[in-house]
This record gives sequence, C-alpha cells and structure tokens, in this order.
Amino acid sequence: MKTVEIKPDIYWVGAIDWAVRDFHGYVTPNGTTYNNYLIKDEEITLVDTVKYDFKRVTTENIKSICDPSEIRNLVINHIEPDHASGIARIMNLAPDATIYITKKGKAGIDRHFDTSDWNVKIVKTGDTLKTGKYTLTFLETPMLHWPDSMMTYIKEAKLLISQDAFGQHLATSSRFDDEFVECASHSELDHAVVEYYANILMPFGPLIKRKIEEVQNLGLEIDMIAPDHGVIWRKEVDKILQTYMDLANGKADLSVSIIYDTMWHSTELMTLPLMQGIRDEGVECNVVKLRATPMSAAITRFWKSRGSLIGSPTLNNILYPSVAEFLTHLRGLRPKNRIIGAFGSYGWGGGAVKEAYEEFKKMKLETVEPGIQVNFKPSVEDEDKCYEFARDFAKKVKEYHSTF
Ligand code: FEO
Repeated sequence: MKTVEIKPDIYWVGAIDWAVRDFHGYVTPNGTTYNNYLIKDEEITLVDTVKYDFKRVTTENIKSICDPSEIRNLVINHIEPDHASGIARIMNLAPDATIYITKKGKAGIDRHFDTSDWNVKIVKTGDTLKTGKYTLTFLETPMLHWPDSMMTYIKEAKLLISQDAFGQHLATSSRFDDEFVECASHSELDHAVVEYYANILMPFGPLIKRKIEEVQNLGLEIDMIAPDHGVIWRKEVDKILQTYMDLANGKADLSVSIIYDTMWHSTELMTLPLMQGIRDEGVECNVVKLRATPMSAAITRFWKSRGSLIGSPTLNNILYPSVAEFLTHLRGLRPKNRIIGAFGSYGWGGGAVKEAYEEFKKMKLETVEPGIQVNFKPSVEDEDKCYEFARDFAKKVKEYHSTF
C-alpha cells in the first residue's frame, strides 16, 4: 500500500496487517493496521514507528518520500511494541534524530533498547516542537492506555495524532472513515470502535472523559483524528468524540446478554427459558456460548448490553474454567454501570453460582441475587423458575437502564 498524504506534507507511512488474528489474546478477525505518520517539513519528523515485523514496509514508504537519514525528529506517542518495536530500525537509519517521548516512555524504551547513543528529549503536556510550518504540541494521556501514552496535536493542520485512542482493529484498503465502504451502514466500523474500546480502553472510562473535556476546554481546533490503528477520522470527527464520551459514560443497549458454558447441556438448557423471560419483558436478548466464542467477542457482547446473565456448571465445586477465565478477564477491565446475575447447574454439590456472585462483588457491579441453580437437568418446574427469574432480571435491567 503506497503512502497517503493526509494533510499537506503529512503522510501515512504505516502498514496493513491483513493476517493477524490473535493480537495478544484479542481476536482480530479483520486484521489491523499500524499507522505512523511522516511530516515532510523543514525538519522531517516521524510520528511513531510500527510493529517490528513490518519495518521494511514502513521503511520503503518513508523512502518514497525522503531519505530516511534526513529524519530529524522521531515522536514516540506510545511504547507498546505494536508501535515502538521499530524504533531501533529508524534510529539505525537516522542516528542523529532526536526522540521526543514522555518520561515513562523513556524508562520503557531503556528496557527494550540500548539507548545510550540516542538523542532523547523528554516532553510533557504543552511542550512544543516547531518543525517549520508545523508546530507539534504534546499532550500526555497517562493510562490511556499505558503510563507512557501521549498524543501529538498539530495546530496548523488541525490534526490530532491520537495513538491507540479512537482506533479500530480493521485491516482495510481505506485510510479514511468516509472511504470505508465494506458496509454501507458503517455498522462494521461502528462495531470495530466498540470492540476496541471494550477490550482495551474499558478500564479508563473516567480518564477518557476527563481528557476529552480537557481537549475541548483547550479549544483545540481538530478536523482530523489519526489513530495508530484502523481508519483516520476526517468526516465523523464529532461523532467519534461523542461515541467515546458515550462509551466512557457507560452507555449500553437496553438488552441482556446470556454468556455461558456447559458440560452436558444442563446449563445450556436453562438459557432457553431465561431468554424467553427476557424477551417477554420486551428486552432484546443475545446468547453467547464461551469456548464457541472468542473471549474478546464475548467481552464486547457483555459491554454492549446493560445487563448480563452468566451461566456456569459446577466443576469440582467451583466455576467451570472457561467461565472463570471470562470473569477474570472481565474483572481486569473494571466494567461499570452494568447489572449482572448468575445461573448454573450442578450434580452432587453446587458452588459455581456462589463463586460467580463473589466475582461480581469484586467488580462492584449491581447484582440481582441469588441467581438460580438446578440439580442435574432442569425440570419443567426449574424451567418455570428460570423464566420468572429472567423476567425479574429484565425488569431490574429496565429500571437500572432508565437511570442513564
Ligand atoms: Fe496499539 Fe497500546 O498499542
């Protein structure tokens, strides 16, 4: 893919990873891109590198615009290896370049590379770099999503290079949101934004809100947001900002997701009356079987719904391993503003439902208790109890949802 001039003399020089399907455990059925940007100004400046595997691609892209040895400045917005593992390659090509990076970022690259011969300048919010006609202003965004993270704003271009924020894992030949035509409704793009947020940025909702408000209060003019993954926003800048505010505020669909696993189908049989009870309260319901669904897709499904019911058989008196894995993963993402309950089956001794509620309490989620469990296979009476429990749960979800 050749380079793309996204603003006068500012080029996308990144790489498209059509093949990646497992991004550190996050399933990426549509691949991803590693975006980095070259500013061909009086001082040639590269913002971010790409994953090491794609070093040749980005080098060839840079070479089509300038001699890489002419790069004077290398801005590193984020040191996660999908963006920073190519630093050494660039510094070999441009050994006199100066790296602009946050203090935490510097500490990180010191652990990954021998930086002793590199020129490194530590920057903080408000620091600027004049490259000629362009002025780069750095904006620290600690814990969005790593301690080292920052964004780079280019005033004269009204361009925000936002590193991971506003990104999507989508390998596409489209570089801009308005070129994305794989689905006329843009629902695929919208889904990719939510999936990315749910799996990477969910823990940082309050920070995201504060940071967006801070940017708005600074009165920065932004007509393009260029993230380090996926398409660049130039048509729907306001919409993506509003989407992030909504996500950070915990906006969700009035729906319930039933997320479960099963050993011999008993827990699975419970999902049918549960689903019916939810539907009969007028609430949409989605059913997700773990082990048949990638973990990141199950997390996205959880995040999209206001309420979730988690189903697990009891195995050796505790949660079924796939359900325990899901809840551990979910706890790390620190979900907020969701309502949750549990159900499950057991043979000679229960334990899964009780343990599920213990996990919910650790997450400080609103719960509907005590859940429902059945011995071996659900009887007709058990199915009736599941149905009533689900109706009661759906009512509470509606009440809870109405407070947002
Ligand atoms: Fe795309 Fe946090 O790296």
